[in-house]
Amino acid sequence: MPGASSSRLPGFYDLDLDQRLEELSRTAGLTPESRQALRGAAGLTADQAAHMIENAVGVFGLPLGVAVNFQVNGRDVLVPMAIEEPSVVAGASFMAKLARAGGGFVCRSSPPEMIAQIQVLDVPDMERACARLNSAKAEILKQADNTDPVIAGLGGGARDLEIRVLEDTPVGPMLILHLIFDTRDAMGANTLNTAAERLSPEIERLTGGRTHLRILTNLADRRLASATCRIPADGLAFGDFSHERVRDGIVEAWAFAAADPYRAATHNKGIMNGIDAVVVATGNDWRAVEAGAHAYAARGGRYTSLSRWSVGAQGELIGELELPMAVGIVGGATRVHPAAKACLALLGVSTSRELAEVITAVGLAQNLAALRALATEGIQRGHMGLHARQIAIAAGAEGDLIERVASQLVVEGAVRLDRAQELVEQFRVG
Ligand code: MEV
Repeated sequence: MPGASSSRLPGFYDLDLDQRLEELSRTAGLTPESRQALRGAAGLTADQAAHMIENAVGVFGLPLGVAVNFQVNGRDVLVPMAIEEPSVVAGASFMAKLARAGGGFVCRSSPPEMIAQIQVLDVPDMERACARLNSAKAEILKQADNTDPVIAGLGGGARDLEIRVLEDTPVGPMLILHLIFDTRDAMGANTLNTAAERLSPEIERLTGGRTHLRILTNLADRRLASATCRIPADGLAFGDFSHERVRDGIVEAWAFAAADPYRAATHNKGIMNGIDAVVVATGNDWRAVEAGAHAYAARGGRYTSLSRWSVGAQGELIGELELPMAVGIVGGATRVHPAAKACLALLGVSTSRELAEVITAVGLAQNLAALRALATEGIQRGHMGLHARQIAIAAGAEGDLIERVASQLVVEGAVRLDRAQELVEQFRVG
């Protein structure tokens, strides 16, 4: 897929909606259908929705924005983000610009291997069961491969088995079999769950036990993606804040999250602001990604920061982020939802790994945006302008009135619904 020729779109923020779409078409060669889908004019219909879930009554909209300036592994990428929270798209875009000056984001990912778990209870002889599973491994993997000949044909398929014995659980010992399966460009939940269910009789025969749960784990720690960025010395200076002060303030803020789960939860939420927005825009399962991220953050036995910030030899700020990233570019809503299809076309990614890498870069950028603000002037200042617009709309402002009411709320330092309602009345009359 082609994607954008450049993600540097100066002035994009100041364009109106149609002009922005025009600009995207020019840089990313979007088809008219994709444009309509991004605009929401030809997005998911209620009829399509009715084929996706039960008891459908309609569709639910979210703002869709595009983050600019991203460079991932040397490639310019325009990043679609579906999110209701103000400041997220602007924050990501701005931090991507700072990172770009240091070579952009360098991202890596492991092969797209997911894990399905089979729980085996009432095993009469654990040692014997483990030995029999080990000797039948090749046969079990072959059987698992037959679950999805398409994925196997594309070079994916069953890779390995892992056996774990949980000696001490509230219902006694149990054997847990992990099936490791390369799902290629699919997220793979259905394939993994089907494979686990199909293997079940054979696992019972080999272990003499009773299989119970057969389901993938969202702690997809064999499907990791990582991103690194370097913000060159001087890159962080603004207003009265020197580069060193901002840089060291960010490292101190990160250290807080590294040491304290209460702070880590919020720190990681900031990372997920960026990640979820792209996961949602591409029709992927954001709950799966969330579950994987937080479980990974607690893998050492204590919940901690997913990212790491440090100072490099040249005084630059170095950021790193690694987490499980179970996303696909085929299957599920990625190809059914017209806007998700258009978002994938805009991203120009051709593998699930490439998508996972871009998403991780956005998470790191978002983390930097939050820490930079928190470590300097505080988060509210940047937030207030857009928040005020939402309050103005909630108070009934339309058209030009939105901006007038929002500006007045900010000037007064009273971004509240009651005041916004008063101003709407006042400006309408006046
Ligand atoms: C708000 O949505 C996200 C932040 O709280 C993240 C953080 O504190 O690092 C600003």
